[in-house]
Amino acid sequence: MSNNDLAIVILAAGKGTRLKSSLAKVLHRAGGRTLVEHIVRSCEPLKARETVVVVGHQAEQVAAVVEPLGALTVLQQPQNGTGHAMQVAKRSLSRAKFAVVLPGDAPLVHTETLKALIAAHHNGDAAATILSAVLADPSGYGRVVRKSETAVSAIMEESQLSADQRDINEINSAIYCFTLEKLWPALAQVKPNNKHREVYLTDAIAVLSSKGETVRAQVAPDSREVLGCNTRADLAEVDRVFREWKRNSLMDAGVTIQLPETVLIDPDVVAGEDTILEPGVQLLGKTRIGARCTIRTGSVLTDAMLGDDVIIEPHCVVAQSRLDGRVIIGPFARLRPDNHLKAGARIGNFVELKNSTIGEGTKAMHLSYLGDTKIGTKSNIGAGTITCNYDGFHKYPTSIGNKVFIGSDTALVAPVRVGNGAYIAAGSTITENVPSDGLGIARGRQVNKPGWAAKIRRELAATEKPKKKTAKKSKRRKATKKRK
Ligand code: UD1
Ligand code: MG
Repeated sequence: MSNNDLAIVILAAGKGTRLKSSLAKVLHRAGGRTLVEHIVRSCEPLKARETVVVVGHQAEQVAAVVEPLGALTVLQQPQNGTGHAMQVAKRSLSRAKFAVVLPGDAPLVHTETLKALIAAHHNGDAAATILSAVLADPSGYGRVVRKSETAVSAIMEESQLSADQRDINEINSAIYCFTLEKLWPALAQVKPNNKHREVYLTDAIAVLSSKGETVRAQVAPDSREVLGCNTRADLAEVDRVFREWKRNSLMDAGVTIQLPETVLIDPDVVAGEDTILEPGVQLLGKTRIGARCTIRTGSVLTDAMLGDDVIIEPHCVVAQSRLDGRVIIGPFARLRPDNHLKAGARIGNFVELKNSTIGEGTKAMHLSYLGDTKIGTKSNIGAGTITCNYDGFHKYPTSIGNKVFIGSDTALVAPVRVGNGAYIAAGSTITENVPSDGLGIARGRQVNKPGWAAKIRRELAATEKPKKKTAKKSKRRKATKKRK
């Protein structure tokens, strides 16, 4: 079978009633992607002549996910069952001889398993080859009814099972390879003989078998690959499997993960050798982490880029930012998008950064907000420094040079520049540029009044004492009166 004879059909028009959701089932996420995106991606290496996604519920949103990945969409309206969905796809499959058909809600299948299914179909010269799996608990799935060790006679949906078929634990994954010239006439004979009055693709199997066509079932090597997502519990289970596989692949690549089941990693994340992930870490989006980094407990990194030997102390939040080698941040640091922390920079507790560049070896260790700010090398930003970058209408930049010392509790009212080697006195509100090597001081002068506090205390004591005594005396008088 050449790839030019092969089409992929993904059935993704259903609503997913059992999820009880306003979002179409295939747009739900597991393992960091929508269900349907996982499936299109797994099929990509098969290099089929076309990939057709049957859409219906929230068709536009589903198309917006799959079309950028190179898939075509065809609209099924109304959704009269999986067999009907396949009939709708027919008009887009003009020249393909074979089709791999997949449901949009079983996203764990591996490309290698699909390749093996196609090979089995080819070698068995079959009209249909079903990917099946043996499950300890087959409930909810259609069952594969075999007439011999190699041949299948039917797929029975759970609602259609007879008493003796209930023990069958080989299930239909709803992933098949069909020879299309055999499928179309069989599908035309399928009647909507079920309580939903739908045309089931599964019923085409019995028609093919009764016509004497070869129908085979190929058992998946890992039964988890065929798990479908009909309920929220299914979604959680599929997500768990994706996350486990991702963690295992990073551990295989030399990453240490402590209490792995507590660590959540998206599919595109990469991390270098000897990096350590502590419990409760989340690495999301396109995060890339170098070698020998430590990401400590409770930190969440989204689209972050870390060099080598970076330390993220506990409970940091980092989004769309670049941290070069040997940077240390946190605990409790928040990096909003578009920061660049250069080698050896240090950001401490309760420091928030937004769209800022922190030069090599520069430190901002405590309780600061630095937004739209560029800082040179080896500067020190004192505790409580705030850049006032927003006047309620526009944002303005702050520029701080090399080897600058910003005293604690400084407000830098942007736009403003502080030259190389300059000092800012603690507690200043800086509204004008500070020249290189100068001192910027902008605060009220202190006045000391000797003896002021003692004098006040004396005055207060003099006015308060007599009052207290009279109050006590009158109370005592009342008490003696009562006793009498
Ligand atoms: C289906 C199979 C069942 C199998 C199970 C595996 C049928 C009748 N049953 O059941 O044998 O064990 O998958 O997970 O096929 N869809 C459409 N148009 C429709 C109806 C459904 O595109 O009119 C799509 C859905 O969006 C979904 C897929 O087909 O992605 C499967 O439909 P679903 O309702 O999930 O079928 P199951 O009950 O899981
Ligand atoms: Mg399903």
